[in-house]
Amino acid sequence: MKHSKVKDLLNSPESIGIGNQVNVKGWVRTKRGNNAVNFIAINDGSVVHSIQVVVDVEKFNAEELKLITTGSSLSVTGILVESCGSGQSVEIQAEKIEVYGTANPETYPLQKKGHSMEFLRDIAYLRPRTNYFGAVLRLRHAMAFAIHQYFNDKGYFYLHTPIITGSDAEGAGAMFSVTTLNLNDIPKTEEGTVDFSKDFFGKSTSLTVSGQLEGELGALALGGIYTFGPTFRAENSNTPRHLAEFWMIEPEVAFADITDNMALAEDFIKSLVRYALKHNYSDIEFLNNIVDKELIARLNEVLNTEFVRLSYTEGVDILLKSNKKFEYKVAWGVDLQSEHERYLVEEHFHKPVILTDYPKDIKAFYMKQNEDGKTVRAMDVLFPKIGEIIGGSEREWNYEKLLNRVQELNIPEKDVWWYLETRKYGSVPHSGFGLGFERLMLFITGLSNIRDVIPFPRTPMNAEF
Ligand code: 4AD
Ligand code: MG
Repeated sequence: MKHSKVKDLLNSPESIGIGNQVNVKGWVRTKRGNNAVNFIAINDGSVVHSIQVVVDVEKFNAEELKLITTGSSLSVTGILVESCGSGQSVEIQAEKIEVYGTANPETYPLQKKGHSMEFLRDIAYLRPRTNYFGAVLRLRHAMAFAIHQYFNDKGYFYLHTPIITGSDAEGAGAMFSVTTLNLNDIPKTEEGTVDFSKDFFGKSTSLTVSGQLEGELGALALGGIYTFGPTFRAENSNTPRHLAEFWMIEPEVAFADITDNMALAEDFIKSLVRYALKHNYSDIEFLNNIVDKELIARLNEVLNTEFVRLSYTEGVDILLKSNKKFEYKVAWGVDLQSEHERYLVEEHFHKPVILTDYPKDIKAFYMKQNEDGKTVRAMDVLFPKIGEIIGGSEREWNYEKLLNRVQELNIPEKDVWWYLETRKYGSVPHSGFGLGFERLMLFITGLSNIRDVIPFPRTPMNAEF
């Protein structure tokens, strides 16, 4: 007999038929009861809710029933009936139970409820079995699907950019090296530096920090592309918003300026929030109840408001006039910290803010230079509770200006020559941005630590599992 998903049994029992025999397979969340009747809650991961199995103790072997404890895995065959208990529409009257795997109550780490997030991180191999992490993983899947659907519907092409690269796209020098050289016997050049000509690729390579540079090449041929892949940053930032390995979505659009770019970013994020509320409401409702009571209100607020558009210079003015004591001092020219970004969003405007035209010295080399000679056409989208969720810009498409900037910043031309070449042949205005997938997931789930919205977080001193 084919087993049913708990989600289908709970959400559309009529299509399966009350009174019919069904089979479910899953993991025991709880078991309670007395000598006459047991109630077993089974979750199969398809939905946050568990289905209740009612066991008439008399009809089963007592030794076998003892094997059924929290965490064990079962196949249950029985009759789908309307539930008399509150909180669920249907339940299963058990006829046959098969135990696949037991879970010794003395050692199984996930006993019932109330574990701290820190504890769950230590048992990341089991935390997908908690309600909260199940909700996160289903939402991650839904958002990934919605992202592909959004761009596909708009005629953008999914471009696969390389993970191993010879260039530092952000020029921030926070890259993980990729090498097959013997670290105990590194070949050296005559000058005493590492001889990368002996390495696998014949040159020094790293894990990518962004697919943007290659993404631009795609946009300059296909019109509109997006990437969606893992990116790596070896910044030693131990914060609730930074991972060493995170996923990023990077659309890149030809014939688009920064105004178009802002409109795309706003429409894109709103469409994802709308998708989550429409398709994953039970998970969001669950998170709203146990993690963050304002989650649903905040998601709706973002949907129903127009994002503020503001220049960096205006933003700094507001911060300077705020009389607020920040940990990091504000002045024109400094890179804004998350406390500054969140002040603008949460305390000043009470809505998402798109900050534009940053000082060129704190932004990457590829951004379009403004006439003032001081600022570039950058845009950061700032969100409540998160701070920066998107970073992007219009790109410098003039060959001389781009080359000058590369030279000013001492970026090795041998690493980016191919990128520069595109500005020589049929160059066009174009723009793009990067959305940090886990920052989006923080917003969608209401969780406050980025380690809790990715299955297996990679952070400084932590690469377990
Ligand atoms: O602002 P960033 O560094 O921009 C870029 O990488 C551009 N190449 C994007 C583009 O224009 N195509 O990063 C983009 C976003 C940030 O806004 C943030 O959401 C996320 O990526 N991000 C991180 N997320 C988690 N951990 C980190 N260490 C992150 N660094 C950036
Ligand atoms: Mg940024």
